[in-house]
Amino acid sequence: MPIIASNFKTNHTRKSTSLFIEKLNNYLQSNDIKDEVYVFPTSTSLDSFNTVSNLLLGVQNAYPAKNGSFTGEIGLEQLEEFDIKTILIGHSERRHILGETQEEIAKKYEFYKNLGFRIIYCIGEPLEIKNAGLEKTLEYIYEQFIDIDTNYSNLILAYEPVWAIGTGVTATNDDIGSVHKAIKEKINKPLLYGGSVKVENVKEICKIENVDGALIGTASWKIEDFIKIIENTK
Ligand code: G3P
Repeated sequence: MPIIASNFKTNHTRKSTSLFIEKLNNYLQSNDIKDEVYVFPTSTSLDSFNTVSNLLLGVQNAYPAKNGSFTGEIGLEQLEEFDIKTILIGHSERRHILGETQEEIAKKYEFYKNLGFRIIYCIGEPLEIKNAGLEKTLEYIYEQFIDIDTNYSNLILAYEPVWAIGTGVTATNDDIGSVHKAIKEKINKPLLYGGSVKVENVKEICKIENVDGALIGTASWKIEDFIKIIENTK
């Protein structure tokens, strides 16, 4: 079964996740699914999600420090409290909306890599680069690997074209296929696709060569749809 990961971004509350958690827990247990389903909830819901068996629980972000004076951030000490060992790094929204630089991203990567975290590392190009062609797209993507140790054993990659995120416009199978092929030839790690993955297209996307699963935002926020997504890839 492919890897299926849900990124809640800044959505859901503890209250609105309670039904999600109950249904996901029942579903994962009764279907004996292990090691394939990830959820990256908001940090305020981490303790509630910790009750779900067979779920790989991760954080959308954390600061590269154990603790200290980094207002607004959470660090290793807080992650340890929830037994979190999985982190999303390099997401497009952190790069483009929150202004994280490649240098900051690489520092975070190094810190959590040295602690043995499972890292889902995101890459992807904006529309103007996509429109400039495959060669430019790959050039842009490879710059997102500057100072990133791609030999790290606990690394999963996620190709998320910026223009496909939250827009309803999914990359074509050909686009996904050619970018994934090129990345895989360079870096042989599990590679997810993300960007407007839905109940209706997840099966087809996961069947494309060199696609090892999907990282999903919008379509994963309703538990019924998230379960359908998982079912559609089995
Ligand atoms: O990390 C998942 C993501 O950015 C894709 O979001 O809403 O297009 O599925 P969405």
